[in-house]
Amino acid sequence: MAPDPSRIEKRLGQASILAILGLAAAGCRTDESMKPLGLPTPAVIAHRGASYAAPEHTFAAYDLAIAQGADFIEQDIHRTADGVLVVLHDATLDRTMRGPAQACSGAVREHTLAEVKSCDAGDWFNSANPSRAKAEYLGLRLPTLAEVLDRYLTTGRFYIEIKDPELYPGIESDLVALLASRGIAPVVDPVAPRVVVQSFSEASLKRVHQLGPTIPLIQLFSNSGSAAIAGALSGVRGYAVGIAPHAGSVDAALVEAAHRECLLLHTYTVDAQPEMLALLAMGADGIFTNRPDLMRAAVGASGRAMLPANCSP
Ligand code: G3P
Ligand code: CA
Repeated sequence: MAPDPSRIEKRLGQASILAILGLAAAGCRTDESMKPLGLPTPAVIAHRGASYAAPEHTFAAYDLAIAQGADFIEQDIHRTADGVLVVLHDATLDRTMRGPAQACSGAVREHTLAEVKSCDAGDWFNSANPSRAKAEYLGLRLPTLAEVLDRYLTTGRFYIEIKDPELYPGIESDLVALLASRGIAPVVDPVAPRVVVQSFSEASLKRVHQLGPTIPLIQLFSNSGSAAIAGALSGVRGYAVGIAPHAGSVDAALVEAAHRECLLLHTYTVDAQPEMLALLAMGADGIFTNRPDLMRAAVGASGRAMLPANCSP
């Protein structure tokens, strides 16, 4: 059945219309089963913040990402021994935290928030990247998710990855409760969502879906090949609004297959502009990058329909 444009416009707003036009051109059904997609498209997703130029998952990296035009800042989350959701990529502290070994090494889940807050989150970056080192990065602290939400509640959109959910029973409830305390879930405005939740774990995403059926979910895929991922799409559609495969598995056939299932396709992690442009030309709806400045320019150069970075439909 042909879509009724006035109904769709009321339901989803201008940003979603742009998203739908892209999906409809790919043969996607635009009927009532269409997911609400009021998300910037193509989306510039700052992977761990602007983490090429600043220490990942710090306020410095997030501030820079937003200044560079990112639509989303990404958070990977874990939980401390005293039950606080914190933002860092690894399940252990060793790679990115510096300080006394007793507090700053080993598993995050075996340390209290006070312990992990005592660690330096920028020193490692300066040592690993001397040409990008800055004195101001020394002394940065690992943020809690609550601190990130509060700092960017009106200026940013959050793209939160539930890492290693098997290590943290109940983390989905913790996350949704925290988002609820800031008013951005469990009911998410379909026209102007401020949060997306992603995971490699289908089970974890389905738990989030039960807690908040309107929370936009993205199913992550490792580099398992275009055909294998395409075979999983119809199942994903039952709980998620899109997929995010490793860029090595993305080809035009997968983009088309995702759009046919009314699923967005985001992909990770791309820092080279020619690759960004190639993925955008294939129809990718968003790219995780450590270099949001390059991606913002690539989106502009691609000629794809887009919204300004600061546009909230
Ligand atoms: O979440 C997308 C991408 O970030 C997955 O890889 O290891 O950087 O979290 P990773
Ligand atoms: Ca991630």
